[in-house]
Amino acid sequence: MEKITKPLDAKDKAGIFTEGINYFVTGENSIWGKGDKETLEFLDKEEIKGKWLNLASGDGRYNLNLLKKANFVVASDIDESALSKLWHTTPEEYRNKLETKVFDIVKPFPFEGNSFDGIFCAGTLHLFPVEVFKKIIKEIDRILKPGGKIIIDFATDIKRISSEGKLITFGDEPLYTLEEAKILLKELFKDYKTMINELSVFEEDFKACNPPYKFTCRGVLLVAEKVNR
Ligand SMILES: C[S@@+](CC[C@H](N)C(=O)[O-])C[C@H]1O[C@@H](n2cnc3c(N)ncnc32)[C@H](O)[C@@H]1O
Repeated sequence: MEKITKPLDAKDKAGIFTEGINYFVTGENSIWGKGDKETLEFLDKEEIKGKWLNLASGDGRYNLNLLKKANFVVASDIDESALSKLWHTTPEEYRNKLETKVFDIVKPFPFEGNSFDGIFCAGTLHLFPVEVFKKIIKEIDRILKPGGKIIIDFATDIKRISSEGKLITFGDEPLYTLEEAKILLKELFKDYKTMINELSVFEEDFKACNPPYKFTCRGVLLVAEKVNR
């Protein structure tokens, strides 16, 4: 795959929360750090098989965890530079079961119905206003096979502090509290068999972001199984 170095600028009001950076100047590791402890532990022990979609995968923070277990992974993002870094940092032995797909999560997904055994999405869905979030969940539900599984790492109580000490927010992001997020996710996934676990406080210095900021959040890990449909 070609190395895509062209930055994609954010358009917060249109639901495009990109970094506007060339991911090939950000080093080998993900710009989002190592990941939530509980999410990593969960991915390690959970049964993950068949064809998975890593939705808004970014530059691949959790992608190898999926690839090591699933039969096939489609990593998707609107930012082609992030996806091409993900591809180039994936060990060659896993690339034959990896595909990358560029698309806008706010628009209809470019997949047939019932095409995935599992869908994973981390650190992204909390950014969308509720009505947009509901549309995204509808698309996730459409492309997930009966019996399929959804894993969502959903950030809450977010604080981003710039190097000048200013609070950063993006567009119309809802800035959910932990309790609000739990209520919303329970409601949206009421037809699923769900498990909602609280994540511990997450702190990270996102130096490669545009602009860079110190980040703290709480969050929940939702696991939802599409039963009886
Ligand atoms: C905070 S990052 C999380 C990346 C990755 N899931 C992780 O946990 O490391 C959010 C990702 O969502 C992508 N993104 C933002 N808006 C999007 C949209 N409308 N459609 C698809 N991807 C989008 C960004 O490019 C970025 O890679």
